[in-house]
Amino acid sequence: MSNAYLDLLAYFGIGGAHPGGFNLTQSILENESIQPNELALDVGCGTGQTSAFLAKRYHCHVTAIDKHPIMIEKAVERFKNDPAKVKVMEGDAQYLNFKDDSFDFIIAESVIVFTDIEKTLHELARVLKSGGRLILLEMTAEQNLSEELQRKVCNLYGIKEIISEEEWRIKIQQAGFTRIEIIDTPSELNPSEIDDINQSDNIKKELYDLWEEHNELIPFYRHFIGYRAFKCYF
Ligand SMILES: C[S@@+](CC[C@H](N)C(=O)[O-])C[C@H]1O[C@@H](n2cnc3c(N)ncnc32)[C@H](O)[C@@H]1O
Repeated sequence: MSNAYLDLLAYFGIGGAHPGGFNLTQSILENESIQPNELALDVGCGTGQTSAFLAKRYHCHVTAIDKHPIMIEKAVERFKNDPAKVKVMEGDAQYLNFKDDSFDFIIAESVIVFTDIEKTLHELARVLKSGGRLILLEMTAEQNLSEELQRKVCNLYGIKEIISEEEWRIKIQQAGFTRIEIIDTPSELNPSEIDDINQSDNIKKELYDLWEEHNELIPFYRHFIGYRAFKCYF
């Protein structure tokens, strides 16, 4: 994997690295009902903050996977002395190493956009049980997003495209989901507070520069790029 932005998040060890941050995660998950015997998957778990919350709040069995070795290292470290039931594994969302119908609940927060969207959505549909639910938190293109801004943001995040809510819906449906709800959240992309950090030693200067570039670009795109939380069922 070569994506400087993901390296930045990994080396700085930023938890809640998605629009709305961990506060939004908590408010979404507080409205879920997950039973202790259910199996949950946190795809692209990063350093594992959401997985920890799921295990603590619902006492369910959580599997946390990520493709970035530094993220995995930090997620493993998070659960080292924690009795929470979280199994951390390195894995690729596009080629999940799980059998069909493995999970009751899947969450992916700001992950699919970094992958081949169709491929990953099909994999998530494959490993979700028929009565299961999938929550996705993803960036969306809002009206009037110029091509130039789109290109700048894609370059910064190392992603191919930013798609609208409608385009997400179509792709989610094509993966086999028949019911898609939009979870009510503030739709504007505001910078969220970062309060969960596990920084590596000797971070390269380029990653500090990229962080600065990121922070400088946010005010230019925050009215044109939003996000949605989708809840998807079969
Ligand atoms: C923006 S971060 C979000 C991390 C975490 N979900 C959170 O909200 O804090 C995106 C995460 O997706 C992971 N990721 C990107 N492509 C992936 C893939 N193909 N398979 C698994 N994880 C992937 C990255 O390594 C990174 O940890």
